[in-house]
Amino acid sequence: MLNKIKKLQSEVEDFRTNNLEELDQFRIKMLGKKGEVTLLFGEFKQVPAELKRDFGQAINVLKNSVQDKIKTLFSELKTVDSGPSGQDLTAPGEPSPLGTRHPISLVRNQIIDIFKRLGFNVSIGPEIEDDWHVFSALNFPPEHPARDMQDTFFINQDPDILLRTHTSSVQVRVMENEKPPIRTISPGRVFRNEAISARSHCIFHQVEGLYIDKNVSFADLKQTLQFFAKEIFGPSTDIRLRPSYFPFTEPSAEMDISCSLCNGKGCNLCKYTGWLEILGCGMVDPNVLESVGIDSHEYTGFAFGMGIERIALLKYNIKDIRLLFENDVRFLEQFQNAQ
Ligand code: DAH
Repeated sequence: MLNKIKKLQSEVEDFRTNNLEELDQFRIKMLGKKGEVTLLFGEFKQVPAELKRDFGQAINVLKNSVQDKIKTLFSELKTVDSGPSGQDLTAPGEPSPLGTRHPISLVRNQIIDIFKRLGFNVSIGPEIEDDWHVFSALNFPPEHPARDMQDTFFINQDPDILLRTHTSSVQVRVMENEKPPIRTISPGRVFRNEAISARSHCIFHQVEGLYIDKNVSFADLKQTLQFFAKEIFGPSTDIRLRPSYFPFTEPSAEMDISCSLCNGKGCNLCKYTGWLEILGCGMVDPNVLESVGIDSHEYTGFAFGMGIERIALLKYNIKDIRLLFENDVRFLEQFQNAQ
């Protein structure tokens, strides 16, 4: 029996493996229910009393060296298993911070969502445009000040290639390519040669709306815009339409909403008028319909255009438009849960 113990002892010392499965088999072979060491403990009963002390010691030494061996090999193999650099690949990962939607995107998506529910589709057009789509087809007279270098960024003159100053150019493109009925909104970036201040920027975003069909009336326009205002600023929002002028609509109007800060009582934000201007609108001028080949006797339509920044400033009570372009994460993170 002592010989057997010695043999097992050297087997334990010689045992090598780089495989966790083999190590487990070794454990079972030695310490399992029918393992060598376990069996030795069983045989121990038959050992004569005077030898029990020596045998007992020898078996315990063997058992301890099996356990030590398993322990060392296991910790070695675990480090190897967890990757070449010794990192623990099973440890939970470091969370990467979640980004937030930019307030311009939030508001644009809300506007799209509201008009989609009214059956409007979304159309987009190029930011680099020609004179026809930005001015001529929209009934701008040749001497209109918007055509001036002071207001418009020109890329080329004669032929005039320019950065669009409004998304109304997209309504021309849609009408050129599609037959009525047309119900579309066109979000996009626009450019104006303006000084940057807390209230205006030379690059900003607009959403244009256009509805052309038989018998579209001013009442349809008003109803649509009232629905929009209540959806985006809340159900207690009132609207009012003031007569205005745009070359591409007749009649034209500007829409105000009741001041969201003072509820119409008068405050600094609304300059004590109780109202905030948010968009331009009107019935599409028959000249515009004719310029894109739509019969203005058969069809009528309405159009509107609004600045996304303006809506975002009012909705989130932002005091300076430049914050929207600086992309300071401390500012943007505040919109994590914004609706
Ligand atoms: N294009 C105008 C602007 O940039 C906004 C506008 C006003 C669009 C009236 C329209 C409209 O479609 O009917 O100021």
